[in-house]
Amino acid sequence: MKNISLNIDKVAKFVSKEGIAAYEPQVKAAMETLEKGTGLGNDFLGWLHLPSSISKEHLAELKATAQVLRENCDVVIVAGIGGSYLGARAVNEALSNSFEWLQAKHNGPVMIHAGHNISEDYLYELTEYLKDKKFGVINISKSGTTTETALAFRLLKEQCERQRGKEMARKVIVAITDAKKGAARVTADKEGYKSFIIPDNVGGRFSVLTPVGLLPIATAGYDIEKLVEGAADMEKLTSSEVPFMENPSAVYAAVRNALYAQNGKKIEILVNYHPKLHYVSEWWKQLYGESEGKDHKGIFPAAVDFSTDLHSMGQWIQEGERLIYETVLSIEQPKCHLEIPSDAENLDGLNFLAGKRVDEVNKMAELGTQLAHVDGGVPNMRVIIPELNEYYLGQVIYFFEKACGISGYLLGVNPFNQPGVEAYKKNMFALLNKPGYEEESKAIRAKL
Ligand code: PA5
Repeated sequence: MKNISLNIDKVAKFVSKEGIAAYEPQVKAAMETLEKGTGLGNDFLGWLHLPSSISKEHLAELKATAQVLRENCDVVIVAGIGGSYLGARAVNEALSNSFEWLQAKHNGPVMIHAGHNISEDYLYELTEYLKDKKFGVINISKSGTTTETALAFRLLKEQCERQRGKEMARKVIVAITDAKKGAARVTADKEGYKSFIIPDNVGGRFSVLTPVGLLPIATAGYDIEKLVEGAADMEKLTSSEVPFMENPSAVYAAVRNALYAQNGKKIEILVNYHPKLHYVSEWWKQLYGESEGKDHKGIFPAAVDFSTDLHSMGQWIQEGERLIYETVLSIEQPKCHLEIPSDAENLDGLNFLAGKRVDEVNKMAELGTQLAHVDGGVPNMRVIIPELNEYYLGQVIYFFEKACGISGYLLGVNPFNQPGVEAYKKNMFALLNKPGYEEESKAIRAKL
């Protein structure tokens, strides 16, 4: 069985192999800090050995709950924001048919997300769509108090009970939240919902391999055992026993810090050539943005979908300010097979491609872009993924998580907190006159 791998050949022009190898002592120290739990944020290291510690019984319980939702719902709404939805959405969209929404028949419930915005139009249109649907809800909030999610859940709970009756609602609403505290826990206990616990020591953006990600993924019909197996294998492949240059997470962390500290590369662009990977990039952006963007430091994580965005962002990447480097998610084998037909008239001049697979053209776009961008001063790394399935997505998840922990410590920040996320919430509550925010309300109004 192959593994995902990291190819850094095209950073050599910018950082030498020796320059990367010189990071070995720092990376080793960062990995030891993670292992021993002696660094900043050490109360949030539950993700580190999570894949290898997930029991068969836990997976069976998740699968049984997913089955109840699959049997009783045509639509399942996953309510959650940030780390409480991006991982599941990333995996589900990567694995599902791009036109799932438009299919007449579904192999399981249609999965929809809510609680990740406060748009009145979005929520109104959602409640309208659900009017004649047999729907259920997975309500995900670690704190149990996040406004976006709580607001959506308030609407969905009422609608579900009204449409489906209290008894069925109790069956098709599942809570994933803290063991003891928060409004989501109180409601789940009072209403008797099936619930799963988000471990205290796993932060939102590292929680995709907890029930936060695993239940929606299982509900969508994907194999969570294979996902966890892939992550567990990557846990081994990135352990301290593996030599530095053979450890993909260690090398990725070292290269990005070298590019940042020595080459002034302040923006990393995660690139894909398959639109179904769009949400893998969204998940990755939160993972790295929230982990490293603090103390006025950190690489800005951006993302593009190529070749689509080559026609919008390509100019900037090729010739704009040289602040950027790229990491490409490169899929070796697409799932489907589609050949380009020959055309008698050849009006579009594409007969030179007749008989070739579409993926061959995509691959040449990828290679041509890589060479052009490197020539243009953009270092380029590739994460090579043999194919898009649960196993390799599990590897991708753990590869990036482990690298993120290492990279944050190399940067000298606490990779596991997110104090900056609170600032907007405080202002919003003050502006909405939330009880308890009287002083803040006065202060903020004086600024208007
Ligand atoms: O990474 C994080 O901690 C955040 O993005 C959270 O996941 C997000 O704010 C949602 O929080 P909660 O799960 O408490 O509703």
